[in-house]
Amino acid sequence: MDAFVIEGGRPISGRFEAHGSKNATLPMLAASLLTDEPVELSDVPRLEDITNMLRLLAELGVEVAEEPGQARGGRTVRTHVTDASLSHARYDIVRTMRAGVCVLGPMLAKRGEARISMPGGCAIGPRPIDLHLKGLAALGASISLANGDVVAKAPAGGLRGATVFLGGPFGSTVLGTANIMSAATLARGRTVIESAACEPEVVDLGRLLQTMGAKISGLGTPRIVIDGVDQLGGASRRVMPDRIEACTYAMAAAITRGELTIANWPVDALVGPFEMLLAAGVEIELSEHEPLDTPGGDPIRATAYVRRKGPLRPVELTTQPFPGFPTDLQAQALAMLTLADGNSIITEKIFPERFLHVAELLRMGAHVIRHGPTAVVSGVPKLVGAPVMASDLRASAGLVLAGLAARGRTVVRRVYHLDRGYQRMDEYLTGLGANIQRVNENALEELAVPA
Ligand code: EPU
Repeated sequence: MDAFVIEGGRPISGRFEAHGSKNATLPMLAASLLTDEPVELSDVPRLEDITNMLRLLAELGVEVAEEPGQARGGRTVRTHVTDASLSHARYDIVRTMRAGVCVLGPMLAKRGEARISMPGGCAIGPRPIDLHLKGLAALGASISLANGDVVAKAPAGGLRGATVFLGGPFGSTVLGTANIMSAATLARGRTVIESAACEPEVVDLGRLLQTMGAKISGLGTPRIVIDGVDQLGGASRRVMPDRIEACTYAMAAAITRGELTIANWPVDALVGPFEMLLAAGVEIELSEHEPLDTPGGDPIRATAYVRRKGPLRPVELTTQPFPGFPTDLQAQALAMLTLADGNSIITEKIFPERFLHVAELLRMGAHVIRHGPTAVVSGVPKLVGAPVMASDLRASAGLVLAGLAARGRTVVRRVYHLDRGYQRMDEYLTGLGANIQRVNENALEELAVPA
């Protein structure tokens, strides 16, 4: 296992270009199961989660080819179903990547049957899929559990359109909406998804499905209407920019008093975090871009110039479904606000247990008190380096940011979590002025790093 050894205190500055979005790519790759023709995605990031999804698709009879993309490390991935007789997504693969669940809807719709290992919980809390299953059952599927697998079967004659309500105790479900929308493209008749997720990644998937021939309206709103078609064709699409990656780098510049130009910044997907950065005293300017109300709904790309000169100001923020502040940026924001000039209040409304980074940040001198889903962060003048443990993807990113700003050395262990969602973050940050070394955890002793 690898660890990052970070010598903190250096400002992050220079130019960075956001990669294609992990969370948009995953359900789009799964959607390639819906057609017998090739689907081509460009700007696919090189990440562990994507590699695992491609392995899963290969097990499900999909031929995968790829070409290197632009110099900054994206790639074009072409998928083509060559054997549609397989329908079992095995535990070995699904346990490595929860997003494996997004093959459920496409497989059921196209192959009439899907068997997928029931995803377990993870470090950010329980991760039920009851809403996915409820939605598929509404389309006529019979659902049962066998040996830890969910087995879904379409009725004779295939899935049929229905009205599906996807609101749960914590709002809608992103991958649940992706699953039901994908399945409904091939169902007979009309499906109306009420309380659909409005996240830009769902819109990006919907645009791909439309290019494949699906009849979908209402993307980006809580009511998505899908009129089923007999078959879908091939398509190609450039994946939207990764809004979480882009904003994590903005926060890296902010926490280190650096200045960063970030290209491929998805303007409309980052309205909430943009406001939050401004409120926190971070200067952020966008290059000219299209107005936000373009009818196309495609991502609007711009270049963001991020800089912090003055103190960080405390803010009150609550994670919410889009267009609210995303849960996937909560850990990074919390890390940044540990250095604010006052008390910030952070409430996590999507995954109320997603605070594993807090205990690690305390070891670096942060002052954070947690009351259930709320963390009160009292800003401190400085953080100090310490050995810390990454527990999940975004928590790891928060710890890396803290390490960049801290005085002295921070060792972040188990960065495999980070590698699931950030492409070569150590190399990019080093190129932007950070001092980060990736080492095998066994080598830490030789470097005289305390355990
Ligand atoms: N939920 C239910 N029942 C369900 C599904 C979800 O109660 O059937 C609850 C969840 O427990 C949670 C809330 O609804 O409290 C939202 O979960 P959602 O289903 O929207 O999460 P997801 O679709 O499984 C995606 C992202 C996550 C991101 C969430 C929320 C992907 C691959 N994953 O997960 O990303 O945090 O939406 O925006 O798109 C990450 O990238 O680090 C990550 C965890």
